[in-house]
Amino acid sequence: MLALPLVALAGPVRPAVADTVATMERHLDALQTIADQNNGNRAAGSSGYRASVDYAAKVLEKAGYDVTRQRFEITTYRLTERPAVAVVRPEKQRLRERKDYLVANFSGSASLQRPVVPAGGTRVPPPADGKGLKSGCSADDFPAETRGAIALVQRGGCMLTQKFENAQRAGARAMLLFNSGLPGEKEVVTITAENGNTLPIVFLSYRAGRDLLRSAEARRTVVRLDIRGKVLTKPTWNLIADSRGGDPERTLVVGGHLDSVPDGPGINDNGSGIALVLVAAQQMAERGEKPRNRVRFALWAAEEMGLLGSVHYVTTLPKHERQRIFAYLNFDMVASPNYVRFVDETLANPASVAIGDDFRAAFKRKGLVSAHFDSGGRTDTFAFIEAGIPAAGLFSGAEGEKTKSQQKRYGGRAGEPYDACYHQPCDTIDNINRRALREFSSAALTVVGEMARRKPAVPEATAARTLSSSPRYKGPYALY
Ligand code: PHE
Ligand code: ZN
Ligand code: ZN
Repeated sequence: MLALPLVALAGPVRPAVADTVATMERHLDALQTIADQNNGNRAAGSSGYRASVDYAAKVLEKAGYDVTRQRFEITTYRLTERPAVAVVRPEKQRLRERKDYLVANFSGSASLQRPVVPAGGTRVPPPADGKGLKSGCSADDFPAETRGAIALVQRGGCMLTQKFENAQRAGARAMLLFNSGLPGEKEVVTITAENGNTLPIVFLSYRAGRDLLRSAEARRTVVRLDIRGKVLTKPTWNLIADSRGGDPERTLVVGGHLDSVPDGPGINDNGSGIALVLVAAQQMAERGEKPRNRVRFALWAAEEMGLLGSVHYVTTLPKHERQRIFAYLNFDMVASPNYVRFVDETLANPASVAIGDDFRAAFKRKGLVSAHFDSGGRTDTFAFIEAGIPAAGLFSGAEGEKTKSQQKRYGGRAGEPYDACYHQPCDTIDNINRRALREFSSAALTVVGEMARRKPAVPEATAARTLSSSPRYKGPYALY
């Protein structure tokens, strides 16, 4: 009690956050514990998300920030009865929920018993290169017998919503969509239709779909479905904390999404990005830094439901406030086990690419190469880009497969997904690549620091508004 403060006073000035990676790992551990205590996930609308909000708010408050919880409403879907999916002909077989099938979010409700009619374009086994899978992407894929029947479709090649629409137009009474069978696409996942959809939709594992396809191709196969669900409205929250000091007329927003998918704890996606945003905020506060430009740290809700939090934030921001923001930096997945150092930028937008240049330079100074990437509306840069605010970010890779040339540059394993646990229960603390954490946080903190201090914030020439033509992301499983 007596000696310690003196020692501290006499000691060298050292940031209290001594080790960036160790601090990030503490945040990741905390988020893992939250998922463990809340049904294994931190999805928007769930208790795990609330606990994540409370945790992040506490970290920021402890660092001295005033934290704003921006509340808005989301619609979620809940089954009101246990669903049942069973083959009744040629042989009775009950499928197992979670193992063989999952009812889609916003599935229509129904009790029906109908023949199964496979759509055209199915490939079992799937093509090794993953190309050419587009079952149900075209109206012609649905034969006349689809009317009044249950359409059986394979994942891949186009937005799921397109498959749903085509099936419904062809008169299908329900749709069974089975996983593609490609690496990382064998098990069941939660897929999402749009709120207002009336078609009963069930997602099948590759194996369950393959068996059903073989059966339906050989003989009349009948399936029974019992699905009862309803749409609920729930509150959720974005978290926002501003730096002390810094010119509000030049605001830099630094963010990432705080929610996980319902299927897993979301520690790489996106606990890793959240750990990065939190450590950036902590370090700025603990250095006592008053940056030249205001820095706003933002943790978004409901990215996984279709970028809802960041879209809500940007679209409800008064025009004057929006004009004060000169850039948005996004961190969505920065610790993928089989990573590539992707710089996510909107290639058609010079101001976004200019931020990308900063990230590339930061990597390069550490002797690290990086790769261009354009997420095209798949993450929270979308709303900013659409609003004319330059935005870019870092991304370590999700479901795609590492190429041979990427393996040469980045190590890891070619032919395997960047993150084999993407959107799955195994996206746990064990799914975190520490080397990626170190490299990405180093580049990110460098760029945040530079942009917080820079004057002018953005070169006039590159600040030109270039709106992207990317479609609005409809949620991760709606994509393809
Ligand atoms: N937004 C995607 C997800 O959360 C991941 C992603 C990040 C994709 C960045 C592309 C670019 O699932
Ligand atoms: Zn995700
Ligand atoms: Zn994500």
